[in-house]
Amino acid sequence: MNTDRRQMLGTLAAFALGACSTKPASETTTPAKPSATMKKDPFGKLPSGEPVDLYTMTNANGVSVAITTYGGRVVSVKTPDKKGASADIVLGFDSLDGYLGDNPYFGALIGRYGNRIGGAQFKLDGKLYKLAANDGPNSLHGGKVGFDKVLWTGADKSIADTPALELTYVSKDMEEGYPGTLTSIVTYSLTAQNELKIDYKATTDKDTVLNLTNHSYWNLAGAGEGDILGHQMTIVAGKFSPVDKVLIPTGELKSVEGGPFDFRTATAIGARIDKDDQQLKFGKGYDHNWVLDSGGGSLTRCALVLEPNSGRTLEVLTTQPGLQFYTGNFLDGTIKGKGGKVYPHRGALCLETQHFPDSPNKPKFPTTELKPGETYNQTTAYKFGVA
Ligand code: GLA
Repeated sequence: MNTDRRQMLGTLAAFALGACSTKPASETTTPAKPSATMKKDPFGKLPSGEPVDLYTMTNANGVSVAITTYGGRVVSVKTPDKKGASADIVLGFDSLDGYLGDNPYFGALIGRYGNRIGGAQFKLDGKLYKLAANDGPNSLHGGKVGFDKVLWTGADKSIADTPALELTYVSKDMEEGYPGTLTSIVTYSLTAQNELKIDYKATTDKDTVLNLTNHSYWNLAGAGEGDILGHQMTIVAGKFSPVDKVLIPTGELKSVEGGPFDFRTATAIGARIDKDDQQLKFGKGYDHNWVLDSGGGSLTRCALVLEPNSGRTLEVLTTQPGLQFYTGNFLDGTIKGKGGKVYPHRGALCLETQHFPDSPNKPKFPTTELKPGETYNQTTAYKFGVA
């Protein structure tokens, strides 16, 4: 283990301890902490008339997360700052209408394929599959009606101190051009350790490809409270995937050493974002896949974000091999979100844990194929704390 990694893990361990600290015995006479709760409310109707729900999970520490069955979208995440003041740290809308309108995947579950598939096509078992090109020549985030725009079936799966919401969606054979009937079950849970844990499972009846993720937009100062350029970012990755001008990986896995993609030690996001660098120009900022040192497999810490003023921290753990770090470069101040607040350019960051973009066309990348009889299984946890 190199020194950077050891330091990073040390820092992360300190955060973990902070978030889990129990009260000293002398305080046990004060009123008991409220217990965790799960609440289900109506969240409007789709144009088809189908009702949409909003589930709100609150843990015993007062952290709360609301998720709608429309697109499995995380609608709000309320966490305390270093002084105990709560704020909503994800971008989104107050009502379903906002989500039904044009918006860049706020809080959404993304499928079948998160990120881009080059030329909007891929070959599987020798057969060519054509997808809708919804991002220049490419397919982005599952196509025209991806998992972000479908109605999921919700079920309350809370146990003891952990509220949990299970969402199920069955995608038909050839939906958006992808083969196989794909059954996806995504479980969001809010743990007593202040983690929003997302467990993804999927099965298919024909060979297919998939890459599920969540597209929450984080601003640890609070949604609509300026940009994220002052947030300090750490990513446990020594390599990233350079892209071409339409953001398709070239196939190379390039060392981050010494350049603006090196986040192995905490660095302000804005420190190098406007550097004269071809990759930053292509992405209009950061919009790239980092090749995680963990290689995927076990649930491992891959990123840590700190917002210095509020002291809020966000730690990301995943079983996935990649992380798309996107700095809200396409936000341009035209979207008015919750409470009428405007979301400015780079007003949030996304940490999309994933397999690498365009894997179906890149045989050297870790495979995204799923076959009948296999179960796709991956977990990501977003852990909230203060420093
Ligand atoms: C992803 C992509 C970005 C952008 C956003 C949505 O993060 O990588 O290029 O398309 O989604 O706006």
